[in-house]
Amino acid sequence: MSAFIQKHSVYVTALLCVVTFSACKDGDFYEIRDEYGNVADSRTLSAGISTVYQSGVTAYDTPAGWVTGNLNTRFYRGDALYDNPRVSGDDPTQGGKGPLYAGSSCGSCHSNAGRTYPTLYSEGGTGSGGFSSHLIYITKKNGGFFRNYGRVLHDQAITGVEPEGKLSVSYTEETYAFPDGEKYSLITPSYSVSAWYADSIAPQDLIVDVRIPLRHVGMGQMMALDPIELEELARRSNYPEYGISGRLNYITERGRQYIGVSGNKAQHADLTIELGFSSDLGVTNDRYPLEVAEGQSQMLGYSHYGIQISTQDMEHVDFYLHALGVPARRNVDDPVVQQGEKAFYRARCDLCHVPTLHTRQDAPALINGTRLPWLANQTIHPYSDFLLHDMGPDLDSHYTSGLAQGCEWRTTPLWGIGLQQRVNQHTYFLHDGRARNLKEAIMWHGGEGAVSRELFARMSRDDRDALIKFLESL
Ligand code: HEC
Ligand code: HEC
Repeated sequence: MSAFIQKHSVYVTALLCVVTFSACKDGDFYEIRDEYGNVADSRTLSAGISTVYQSGVTAYDTPAGWVTGNLNTRFYRGDALYDNPRVSGDDPTQGGKGPLYAGSSCGSCHSNAGRTYPTLYSEGGTGSGGFSSHLIYITKKNGGFFRNYGRVLHDQAITGVEPEGKLSVSYTEETYAFPDGEKYSLITPSYSVSAWYADSIAPQDLIVDVRIPLRHVGMGQMMALDPIELEELARRSNYPEYGISGRLNYITERGRQYIGVSGNKAQHADLTIELGFSSDLGVTNDRYPLEVAEGQSQMLGYSHYGIQISTQDMEHVDFYLHALGVPARRNVDDPVVQQGEKAFYRARCDLCHVPTLHTRQDAPALINGTRLPWLANQTIHPYSDFLLHDMGPDLDSHYTSGLAQGCEWRTTPLWGIGLQQRVNQHTYFLHDGRARNLKEAIMWHGGEGAVSRELFARMSRDDRDALIKFLESL
């Protein structure tokens, strides 16, 4: 049941367009067809020509329709490098894992290009059997890094090496009621780290910021966002009557300033392929040639293997992420979904979860410069402004990233959110997975999100339920 793209007789022009990298306009050369072979309903087109009509377990992990021929080969090469577990040792295609790492493959944490089931609420922290899908960021109270540890606490290690520490979490649960009496409860996490590899760090000196993985929906479109539109959004995002004012995160890398878009604090300008291989898997590469454990005393007896993944292979992974299709919206004619969509606007969710954006005219480029014209000039529906918002003291992790303060988070794009349950068999949401379902996720909104949360809380139960149905249609 995959979508297919019908090529028109202007094929030669389309090819020329690809070769010269001039901008291809949405719909000029392609017509998107839905799963029944009908011309797609424009309300379902989440990401223009990259929309895919998939709603099963592969909904996040399907190539966009323009991925054909040689591109298809590259997509599946990237997919395999992404999913195949790495092993320790110097096999150039699968080796290099560790000595310290957080997962065995990208896909171990982003299974089916989504959010692998987190082992926090269900298992209380770093999972049994040496696996967890979260990342643990640590800093000193004054923002500095701990010598011996760095930015990420690596809770996994190859045989013979000590993990840097282990995370545990406990929750306190409190029950509340909506004004109309419907009950809900929220669980507040409390994190601690034990089994420190080197110096034991006193809890009062430590900031721990735990993140569950993000869904890989719309990675290519995110890289093709138009900086002018984003800057315009940041200027416009000032609604004193709702207490909302978003701002962009800017980061300086290799001497240049970029707008940050990816990560929960918009702390990255790219898809972090090289960083992911280095820091998450322990696989050294040209950009990060040293093991993350370099400098630790336990590295003295460790044999060094040199560069463990080629830049070309990382580019295949980069291509794979850019070329993933974005699932089409579902049930757009369902009256309950339509009722919920109205409620979404009434609660002013749209002021941050901005429904419609556009990709820029020049095609985004992969790590080594290959341009992807299919991602340019598209109307997209990410339901995000990619801006930072102060979400209040309850969501404050006290961890800063670039301009982002502890309480500031990037508006999470909501496209594809309704399929998370089917793709990853769970409904944990928010940066650290503390929300166990969509209602709880909304009720955690504080700070700039507080007015919206209250507008939601005061709706009739019928409207609240409809709003959730609308989110499930995204
Ligand atoms: C141990 C689990 C883990 C592994 C392994 C892992 N990731 Fe992630 N990934 C995460 C978490 C957690 C986040 C959210 C991080 C944040 O907020 O900073 C994330 C975020 C991302 C993002 C940002 C997505 C967005 O919507 O902004 C990208 C891209 C990404 N990872 C790619 C990769 C790639 C490529 C690999 C393999 C080289 C990889 N990840 C391996 C856990 C993991
Ligand atoms: C002030 C901006 C703002 C407003 C208004 C807002 N949100 Fe959010 N939303 C955010 C931010 C920022 C996050 C990420 C918070 C985090 O992870 O800690 C988020 C996260 C979410 C998530 C969790 C997504 C995930 O995959 O983890 C959902 C669901 C959500 N919002 C729905 C809504 C709904 C529905 C409304 C309206 C009732 C709304 N939001 C209003 C900014 C906003």
